[in-house]
Amino acid sequence: MCGIVAYTGSNPAVPVLLNGLRRLEYRGYDSAGIAVNTPDGISIRKSKGKVSELAGLLGEDETQIAESTCGIAHTRWATHGPPTTINAHPHAGGKNGIVLVHNGIIENHHALRSTLTAKGYEFLSETDTEVLAHLVDSHYQGDLVDALTAALKEVHGTYGIACLSEKEEGVLVVARRGSPIVIGVGEGETIVASDASAIINHTRQAIYLDDHDIAKISQNKIDIRSSDNVPVSREASEIDWSADAAEKGGYEHYMLKEIFEQPEAIRNTIRGRMDSERGTAVLSGLDLSPRELAELQRMLIVGCGTSMNAGLVGEYAMEDFAGVLAEVEQAAEFRYRNPIVGSRDLVIAISQSGETADTLAAVREAMDKGALVAGLVNVVGSTIARETGRGVYLHAGPEISVASTKAFTSQVSVLLMAALKFSRSRRMSVEQGRRFVREIEAIPELVERVLAKNDEIAKIAEKYVDQTSAFFIGRGYMYPVALEGALKLKEISYIHAEGYHAAELKHGPIALLEKSVPVIALCNDGPGKDKTLGNVAECQARDSRVLGIVTEGDEEAMAAVNDYISVPPCPLHTAVIPSTVALQLLSYHIARLRGCPIDQPRNLAKSVTVE
Ligand code: M6R
Repeated sequence: MCGIVAYTGSNPAVPVLLNGLRRLEYRGYDSAGIAVNTPDGISIRKSKGKVSELAGLLGEDETQIAESTCGIAHTRWATHGPPTTINAHPHAGGKNGIVLVHNGIIENHHALRSTLTAKGYEFLSETDTEVLAHLVDSHYQGDLVDALTAALKEVHGTYGIACLSEKEEGVLVVARRGSPIVIGVGEGETIVASDASAIINHTRQAIYLDDHDIAKISQNKIDIRSSDNVPVSREASEIDWSADAAEKGGYEHYMLKEIFEQPEAIRNTIRGRMDSERGTAVLSGLDLSPRELAELQRMLIVGCGTSMNAGLVGEYAMEDFAGVLAEVEQAAEFRYRNPIVGSRDLVIAISQSGETADTLAAVREAMDKGALVAGLVNVVGSTIARETGRGVYLHAGPEISVASTKAFTSQVSVLLMAALKFSRSRRMSVEQGRRFVREIEAIPELVERVLAKNDEIAKIAEKYVDQTSAFFIGRGYMYPVALEGALKLKEISYIHAEGYHAAELKHGPIALLEKSVPVIALCNDGPGKDKTLGNVAECQARDSRVLGIVTEGDEEAMAAVNDYISVPPCPLHTAVIPSTVALQLLSYHIARLRGCPIDQPRNLAKSVTVE
C-alpha cells in the first residue's frame, strides 16, 4: 500500500525524494510527507492530499532543507486514522529525534501505545506508525540500528521502514517484514524505495531485502543484518526494464498506455516459451518431476481481484485441455478455512505485484502444508516470487495504473501456456498441441485488432456514461471476463457493477433490471452463445439496454443486442483476451467521460499489502 523513499548521498535529497514519491504515488495518495537531516536537526514537512501539494510546501527559501543530502519520504494509503496532515508520515518519536516512515500495519499498536503512554510518551496522531517511532526512541542509546532491532522484537505485524536519527546525520536505517524494501546502489549514493520504479532513474543495481533484514546505510556503505544482528549478504541484481517503461509516454493516463501496451506485453510473456515443433510450452518454472506429475492430484489457483479472475480462466483451461482437476480460491479465504491441501497438490499463486498480503499468506500456508507451490508474478524479485522459488514471470513490464490491465492478459497467456504444457504431458497429441501454440501466438494480433476500435468504443461509451448500475454477464470462458469487466468499470468509474454468470441472473439479480440498468453481455460465438442470447432477450424484456461483445461477422448476435463491440473470431479460450481488452477500453472511456481520476481511483492502492 503506502510508498516509501529514502536517500543518502552527496546530492540534494529533496528532488530525489519527491520524484520517488511521484513514482510511488500509485501505491497510496491520500497524504504525503518528507523528513531530512539538517544541521539544526530533522525537518519534517507533511501535507494532506497528493505529492504535488507536499512539493508546494517546500519553499525555495528553506535552504537547509534544500541542501540536505539525507532524508526519508512517504505517500500514504490510510489504515489507522483518517487522511489528515497530522496522520501523514513521517512520524517523530520522543526526545532522541527519531523520525520514520512505515508501510504495513503494527497489529499490537494499542498495547504498545498504552505502555508508552504510561512511560510519558505523548501521541499526536492516531496512527500505528507513531507508536513505532516512540518505541524506537524508547530503546535508543546512541545507535539507531540497535534501537530499531530492539523495538522490532516487540512488534507484531508487517512493516517496511525507513528511519533517521538527528544524532546520526547521513545515516538511514531500513527494515522489512512483509512489506517490500528495495535498495538502489548508486555511485556514492543510495536510494531506498518500496519498489524499483522509484530508483530506476538513479541506478539499475537493486538489493531486495528479505523479511527480518535490517540495513544501515550511509553514503558509501550498506551493512545488512538479520534480526539477531548477524551480518547477512544480499546480492545486488540488475533491474531489467527502463525508466521509460514507467512513464506515460504521451498517453493521457497510465491505464490507457498499459491497455495499448498489451500486444507487446503478451509477446514478451510468450517469447521463447512456445515450442511449435513439439507443440508445447516451455515453462521451466512449472516443470514437475515425472513422479510429481504422475501423482499430481489437483491444481489450486489463488489470487485476489483481477489476478483471481485470471485464475478462473486457468481453472477452466486446465480442466478443459489437461484434464487436471483445478480450483480457484480467493487467497484471502485460503488460510483461514484450513484447506485440505498436501504434497499432491500444485498451488499456483497469481499476483501482479508479488506483494499482496492475502496471496502471500496463502503461499505460506500451502508451503507449510507441503504442497508444490509456484508463483505467477510480474514484479521481479517480489516476495511471492522469491518465497515460492519456482514459477513464471509475466514480463509484462511495470504496471502503474491501479486498475490492472496488461497484467491480466499476460496472466491469462501464461495460464493458457501452462494448460498446454500439462495437456501435452498427458493426453493431448502433438497436432493438437501445435494448433494450441498457433492460437496462443495469434493473441497479440487479436488484441491489436480490438485496439484499432478504440474510437468506436469511445463513442459507445457515451451511451453508458450516465448509469449508476450495470451488470456484466457471460458463461464458460466468458464468465471470468464478465467478472473482470465489472471490476474494471466499478473501480475506475464508480458505477456500481456486478459480474454474474449469465444463467445466475435469474436467481436474484434480475430483480434489479430496469431501463436505467444496462447489461453488458459476452455473446462471443462458440459453445453457450445461444443460451446467452436467450439471457439477453430476458434482460431486454425487463427494459435493460444490452451492450454485446460479439464475434466479428456474427449477424445473429449483432441483431440480438442494442449496441455491440465486435472482437475477431477465435476459440473461446483465447477470446477471453481480446474481449477483456474491449471491456477495459469501455470502462476507460466511461470513467474519462465522467471525469474520474482514472490512474488513482478513490480509496484504492495498487498493491494491497495489508489483510
Ligand atoms: O498485485 P496483485 O495482482 O496481487 O493484486 C491483486 C488485486 O489487488 C488487483 O488485481 C486489484 O484487484 C486491481 N486493482 C484490479 O484492477
